Amino acid sequence: MSSSAITPWVVGNWKMNPMQADAQQLIQSFKQQLQQAPLSAAQCHIAVAPIALHLLTVQQQLADAAVPVAVVAQDVSRQAGTGAYTGEISAELLKDSGIDTVLIGHSERRELFADTSVVVAEKVKNALNAGLRVIYCVGESLAQREEGLANQVVLQQICDIARVVQAEQWAQIVIAYEPIWAIGTGKTASPEDAQAMHAAIREGLAQITAYAAKMPILYGGSVKADNALQLAACKDINGALVGGASLDAQSFYQIATAFAQTK
Ligand code: PGA
Repeated sequence: MSSSAITPWVVGNWKMNPMQADAQQLIQSFKQQLQQAPLSAAQCHIAVAPIALHLLTVQQQLADAAVPVAVVAQDVSRQAGTGAYTGEISAELLKDSGIDTVLIGHSERRELFADTSVVVAEKVKNALNAGLRVIYCVGESLAQREEGLANQVVLQQICDIARVVQAEQWAQIVIAYEPIWAIGTGKTASPEDAQAMHAAIREGLAQITAYAAKMPILYGGSVKADNALQLAACKDINGALVGGASLDAQSFYQIATAFAQTK
């Protein structure tokens, strides 16, 4: 099954970074990079995911970028609509503020904030029903990989959401494969291992949805300017979810360029 017609996504996950002044600096530098050598939106979808507090200001600051840069929420409430849920932001409230895409199921949320498979499925359901695009993160731990369970774990994570996603809603889902042992560690999955997992994910998706061949499957985990080209060359890797390197405008731009030019 070929995925060559898929426009790649390069998404910067800023996590709980940076301070406001540094965020402004980062955005200005990134805009300058795009101004000097624009990438067309047809070549690559570019997005950044700042902290919730900065979503709208970052969106305003990027409004005049030389190419569209989408602004993505890092998480969403498991509660839908509006109501007495102190501290929460629902999918409807994100949509109402012009935020169209959300990351769900990042391993840091699964491991540190009790986002169980049930919680993650509720978030996915609410986000899709509110009309958001979902970047759904999956990935195995080092122990699971060493026990030979990587494929089983990742495919189970896909199955976890299958019961809440309606047939046509698969078109609104981007998958991000992020092996936990590669996140923030400087260890990247080899292009061969990453490609093998991406192909397995696409095969798994094909059992569930007719959109499988068209779904972007991003790789995440220590993606850097110097390994982006090799990853981009893999058939089923349709982009990157970039943590640390997205906090450096030049690195992030180079990663986006690698995917834009290789795909
Ligand atoms: P990293 O993070 O690029 O810093 O490894 C990726 C992620 O967690 O999305």
